[in-house]
Amino acid sequence: MPRARSLTAIDLFCGAGGLSLAFHLAGFRIALAVEKDPDAAASYKRSFVSRYSPSTKLYAEDICHSSVTEALESFGPGQIDVVIGGPPCQDFSPARLKARRQGRRTSLVQQYFKIIGILKPRVFVFENVPNLQIAARGKYWRSIKAAALRHGYRMTAHELCAEDYGVPQHRRRLFVVGVPKDAEPVGMPRRRSGTPPSVMETIGHLPALAAGEGCPSDPMHRARSHRPHIVEYLRTIPEGGAWRDGTRVLSCHEGHSGHYDVYGRIVGKCLAPTITGGCTNPSKGRFIHPMQHRGLTVREAALLQTFPADWEFCGGIESQSLQVGNAVPVRLGQALAKRLFRQLSASRRQLTHSLERTREQSFAPTTPPASEDPGSYAQ
Ligand SMILES: C[S@@+](CC[C@H](N)C(=O)[O-])C[C@H]1O[C@@H](n2cnc3c(N)ncnc32)[C@H](O)[C@@H]1O
Repeated sequence: MPRARSLTAIDLFCGAGGLSLAFHLAGFRIALAVEKDPDAAASYKRSFVSRYSPSTKLYAEDICHSSVTEALESFGPGQIDVVIGGPPCQDFSPARLKARRQGRRTSLVQQYFKIIGILKPRVFVFENVPNLQIAARGKYWRSIKAAALRHGYRMTAHELCAEDYGVPQHRRRLFVVGVPKDAEPVGMPRRRSGTPPSVMETIGHLPALAAGEGCPSDPMHRARSHRPHIVEYLRTIPEGGAWRDGTRVLSCHEGHSGHYDVYGRIVGKCLAPTITGGCTNPSKGRFIHPMQHRGLTVREAALLQTFPADWEFCGGIESQSLQVGNAVPVRLGQALAKRLFRQLSASRRQLTHSLERTREQSFAPTTPPASEDPGSYAQ
């Protein structure tokens, strides 16, 4: 019996691979991925392609590059089930939109929908910041929806909280899902019952480090260096406290009242705050280790984003931290990908059955059954 085609996906802004891994673990084959940042692309290659998905073709290029368009055109409409990854949120910012109006930059949103038009996937999914729909009084959202409609897709947006899917972190994100105008909408995953593990349950097993120290067996578990007076200052900040709770005020904070989380210490028995691109730098938010007097390491931040314990990130610490903070937490992405996998498999089974029925009705009773093996989609 001929083998069933597995469900395939393409990741257009793949970063270090959080969302690709989530879809891979849910059963999708990632046929192609695009990432313009060389460090993120190197991480993706080393950690995702080499270890999980050697058949994935990675383009370390801008998605507007002609080589990417040519590669995508080779698939033909309808061959890819899902396009994952979407234009980065900065692309919707007022400054970028103004620059584009003045003709200085091609819109990634336009390029994105051009690709959707080429591939005609059954679904596209991308993650963005929760205020995407209300930013600029809804102007960006309306323009993205209009672009989707022009290509025959309608979009819905769902705000998901990472902690509802087993991620040890408070993180709210908007998932935008597009389906062809006449297709069934995609359902969202059910929340998991119970509380996710706490910060210390997630990172407490890692070797303790002083500022500037690294773990010999794990290059990702290296603490940033802090000057001695900063280390002394960090010591004075209690769990749950921040710069205002330290026993002295750093000169950079004199006269300030906002930025409450800056130089904040994480509470070990609670969930982590949102892991951002500044996650290893205490001056960028609540990123001091619960008990040690230093910022989080890349490994700690990556575990709080539910990356596997051996995921490697390339580049310097700033670049690695950005890749971690940019990622979709793997467990959250996996919940969504599993839900999508079930729905797409079921609708393909339905299509196969109706094709079978049509054939049975149109041809002689001896006509053999349709070739796909629906059982192979079962999870
Ligand atoms: C939010 S991150 C993706 C994170 C990824 N989904 C994950 O889960 O790890 C967006 C990525 O898009 C990449 N990017 C931005 N503009 C791009 C472009 N024009 N072409 C290709 N990649 C781009 C950035 O370098 C960044 O790594």
